[in-house]
Amino acid sequence: MDHFTYRDGTLWCEDVAAAELAAKFGTPLYVYSRQTFAGHFARLREAFAELDPLICYSIKCCPNTHICRLLRELGSGFDVVSGGELFRALRAGADPDKIVFAGVGKTEREIREAFDANVGLFNIESESELEQMIDLARECGIVANAALRVNPDVDPHTHKYTTTGKKETKFGVDLERAVEVFRRHARAESVRLRGIHIHIGSPVCEVGAYARSLERGLHLLNRLRGEGFAIDTFDIGGGYGAHYQHNETPMSTEYASVIVPSLREQGLRIILEPGRLIAANAGIILTRVLHLKQSGGRRFVIVDASMTELLRPALYGAYHFVWPVATGEFVPQSRDADQPFDGLSCCDVVGPVCESGDFLAQQRDLPPMKRGDLLAVFSAGAYAMAMASQYNSRPRAAEALVSGQAARLIRRRETYDDLVAAEDVDSQ
Ligand code: LLP
Repeated sequence: MDHFTYRDGTLWCEDVAAAELAAKFGTPLYVYSRQTFAGHFARLREAFAELDPLICYSIKCCPNTHICRLLRELGSGFDVVSGGELFRALRAGADPDKIVFAGVGKTEREIREAFDANVGLFNIESESELEQMIDLARECGIVANAALRVNPDVDPHTHKYTTTGKKETKFGVDLERAVEVFRRHARAESVRLRGIHIHIGSPVCEVGAYARSLERGLHLLNRLRGEGFAIDTFDIGGGYGAHYQHNETPMSTEYASVIVPSLREQGLRIILEPGRLIAANAGIILTRVLHLKQSGGRRFVIVDASMTELLRPALYGAYHFVWPVATGEFVPQSRDADQPFDGLSCCDVVGPVCESGDFLAQQRDLPPMKRGDLLAVFSAGAYAMAMASQYNSRPRAAEALVSGQAARLIRRRETYDDLVAAEDVDSQ
């Protein structure tokens, strides 16, 4: 389980005991492992080395500036989708040339901020946005680099809310329309339209879906080159899976084995935008058991984390492995729901939020527990804190980063004052 391991009957993050972190920083707590971030990043880079791609960490999955800094130190660029993410990337010391700015509805203010920052590439989502950018760049007297996001109409067979490569979604420009967009706008002086961008969804656990979308993308690129457009960039997006359960997703090398051969010798600068693959298993949530109760024929474990710390189960029905920190004899054999022990009981792990959709795990066989016990919710490095909210006026949880034997807070726990800070406005 990456650098979250059970030793001596208890959970460790690298060389720090999880229970120690909970005691020091409180719960609920996001805990990240530096080595795991670095390991996943290195494996991805190695798998795609032949293409020498620009890897742009997708900030949206785990945006803490300390994590961004870590990725920057590893050599990563950044995929940003808002002015706020651009702010974070710059704060983390990103090289602006290694920033790609995507997003289906960039505002004029965000575009101007990105011009000021000199970002390397804009991924354009519509003809209307391209026209706006051409005008703004001309007005600002700059030349912006851009790629056109195209929608390859490929089904990535993932959750419908995170499917982006099918025609009926709001993302990109239809493939058939793309040539026309280049014909109309690629000769503008203020925006250099120099490539295309494709991102079909997240997570995409079927390598064949990449093969299909790349084939369509390359077909378009060749057509564009045939018409004389100077194309040198292909941003192939992110969406690479992470193991939530049991080896359910391809490894970096398996993605690469399909992607690399189709892109080699094309004379293209390749950009990757991974998020989940790097971050998901680099983080967990530590949560404490508040109460146990049986009602309606169900056994509930009520914990201090909730849908406000991890929305994925409520929003996508996502599976996250949950297990006690102190296991005794019940050392988990994998992250599967099925564990080979007698003496487990079937539970729903739920939070304190006033919604029945507030659950972290349902109908899971778990070891005996009591009030005050600690549980770990695994694979919570990506799209967990990133999607956290203050719903029910719950201050957002703290984040800690572990490196070897050292652990430090990288975001303090919010306070009640934080809940109302932005409401301290003079009434008009
Ligand atoms: N590039 C673009 C254009 C994207 O829209 C995304 C994710 C990525 C890259 C990074 O995808 P990744 O490598 O992390 O799969 N909240 C959902 C995931 C939403 C993904 C949105 N876009 C979840 O919790 O599963």
